[in-house]
Amino acid sequence: MKAALSSVPEKQQQDSEFLRDVLEGLGGKRKTLPCKYLYDEVGSRLFEDICEVSDYYLTRTEASIFATNLKDIADKIGPEALLIEPGAGNCEKIEALLAQLESPKGYYPIDISPEILLNAEHRIKANQPEMQVWSAVGDFTQPDVWDQLTQLPSRKRVVFFPGSTIGNFEPDKAEQLLELFAANLGVGDGLLIGTDLVKDSVRLERAYHDSEHVTERFNKNLLNRINTELEADFDLSLFAHRAFYHQLRKRVEMHLVSLKDHSVSVAGTRVEFSEGETIHTENSHKYSISDFNQLLARGGFRPICHWKDAAASYAIHYAQAI
Ligand SMILES: C[S@@+](CC[C@H](N)C(=O)[O-])C[C@H]1O[C@@H](n2cnc3c(N)ncnc32)[C@H](O)[C@@H]1O
Repeated sequence: MKAALSSVPEKQQQDSEFLRDVLEGLGGKRKTLPCKYLYDEVGSRLFEDICEVSDYYLTRTEASIFATNLKDIADKIGPEALLIEPGAGNCEKIEALLAQLESPKGYYPIDISPEILLNAEHRIKANQPEMQVWSAVGDFTQPDVWDQLTQLPSRKRVVFFPGSTIGNFEPDKAEQLLELFAANLGVGDGLLIGTDLVKDSVRLERAYHDSEHVTERFNKNLLNRINTELEADFDLSLFAHRAFYHQLRKRVEMHLVSLKDHSVSVAGTRVEFSEGETIHTENSHKYSISDFNQLLARGGFRPICHWKDAAASYAIHYAQAI
């Protein structure tokens, strides 16, 4: 069983969903675009570049927590587990964990970006030939990409959700996503999940507005993608990248700010922008350990333990489905 590159009808359906979401997002009083569309092939590569940027401490810190605690984490997961990774991207983080686990039953990565997923699958199979990998291309917030799981062998299932991707969801949506994870797990199955922790706003803002301007290119690539895929005429020089920490909502917001009054055509529909108006493109929520434990409980999980770096910048949590 295998979900590979999208077939033609699937591609057409994805394009029309993309157009619908873009027109809906740009047609509202406050303009927004769903952050999942940041990840076309170029966006996924730019995200990999962001992970290398010195201001973006998240990936480095998470990696150091994994490196220090890998054996302990593998022991918590236990033998014969099937690992499921929603939003797997280049699947780099799972490889060391799969290698450390006792007799893993396989790996089920899910991503909306088929190219990055297929490259990753080839790499894993080259590095760990016995590993069973079933890739699923699709939106992990939709139940259908989880359907194949029922047919896969496992004694225990563990959802692996690193990268603080849960932070991209507003708290009520994060809760719904955890409920979807729990619905695809049995009682006692695991969730290994990374969260960025609340910290000073200067460090947070620098991470999302880095001095090498990689996040800016990542954010603006969304307009390029809309131009290419939806016959739009965004002029990228008329938008600026903005990222700021919202203290009350405990999240970094990423926006594209219109630098003057102008209009844009998207598949024949005119969209008006006034100077200073923004398109809200991404949220990255930050948590304290206790806030996140409460979220886990609301989403159907019992928090078991967590690992942090020495500076308490970032945490990896292990929880069990109730
Ligand atoms: C922030 S990256 C995290 C990648 C990787 N898990 C990590 O920790 O580095 C997000 C990845 O999730 C994918 N993604 C984002 N939203 C998605 C969605 N709703 N469904 C499926 N994949 C999604 C993107 O294509 C991208 O590869």
